[in-house]
Amino acid sequence: MEVTDSPDRLRAACDEARTAGVVGLVPTMGALHAGHARLLAQARKETSFAVLSIFVNPLQFDSAGDLDAYPRTLDHDLDVASQAGCALAFVPSEAAVYPDGPTEVTVDPGPLGERLEGRSRPGHFRGVLTVVAKLLHLAGPARAYFGEKDAQQLALVRRMAADLDEPVTIVGCPTVREPDGLALSSRNARLTREQRRAAPVLFEALSDAAVRVRSGERSADVLRAEMARAIGAGPLAQLDYVAVVDERSWEDVAEIHAPSRALAAARFGQTRLIDNLLLPWPDGRTVHNTNAQGGA
Ligand code: PAF
Repeated sequence: MEVTDSPDRLRAACDEARTAGVVGLVPTMGALHAGHARLLAQARKETSFAVLSIFVNPLQFDSAGDLDAYPRTLDHDLDVASQAGCALAFVPSEAAVYPDGPTEVTVDPGPLGERLEGRSRPGHFRGVLTVVAKLLHLAGPARAYFGEKDAQQLALVRRMAADLDEPVTIVGCPTVREPDGLALSSRNARLTREQRRAAPVLFEALSDAAVRVRSGERSADVLRAEMARAIGAGPLAQLDYVAVVDERSWEDVAEIHAPSRALAAARFGQTRLIDNLLLPWPDGRTVHNTNAQGGA
C-alpha cells in the first residue's frame, strides 16, 4: 500500500487507476474500527483501486477541545488499511488540505444542514461537505463509501453529489455494532467503563421504537416520547435529541406512513454519541436504505 500526503499524488494515482478500472474512495478521520474496515472491504470488493483518506478536518469541529480530543491512531489505521487491501492511503497535513487557511468558499449544506446534528453542532455539515467535496474532486470519478451510522451526513453527501453533479456514486454501508448494540464509533474509545455500560441505551431506545412500529404503532409523537423517556431514564445519558424523520425528505413525520428513520443523540460525560435505525415498513418488514446505491 502506498501512503501519500500529497493531493497531487492522490489525483495522479486515481487518474492512472481509472484507465484500468474503478476508484473506490473511503473518506475517514482515522481512528479506524470495524465499521471502517467494512467500508474498506466493500470498496475493495466493488472497485479495483481502494483509496483511504485520513484527515481530522478542523472545519467540521465546533470546539477546539473536541478537535484536540479526537483520537489519532495513524500506525494502527495504516495496518488496518493495508490488511483490507487498500491500494493508497492519503494522509494529508492541514496545510496540504487548506494551504491558505480555512477556505473562504465552502459548501452550503442547505436547510437539512441546520437540523438535528446541524443544530447541535453549528457549522458541522458545512465543514463536512467542504472537505468531502475537496476529496471527491481530487479523487475524480469514483465510488465513495460512507457509513449509515452518520445517516444525516450520508443523506447530505448524497444531496451534494446530486445537486452539484459530482461524478461519483455514493454508497451507504450498514452500521457495525458491538454485541450489546452500541454502534461502533471512534468516539467510543473516550467513554469511561461506566459510560460504556450505559451507552447502548441509544440503540435500545431505537430498537424499542422499531418493535412498537412492528406492533402497529404509527404515531411518531409516541415513538419520540418513548425514546426520550428511555434515554432520559438511562444512567449517565444526557439526552440531546430524538427524532423520527421521513427517509427521503428528512422532514419530521407525524405518522409512520412511509419509510422513516429514528435518530437519537446523547452525551455520556464529555462524549457525544449518535445512532439511528431505519424503522420497519410496511407491516414488519425493514426497508434497507432506500437511497443506497449498492449499499444495504
Ligand atoms: O465521517 C467522517 O469521518 C467525516 O465526517 C468525513 C466524512 C471523513 C469528513 O471529514
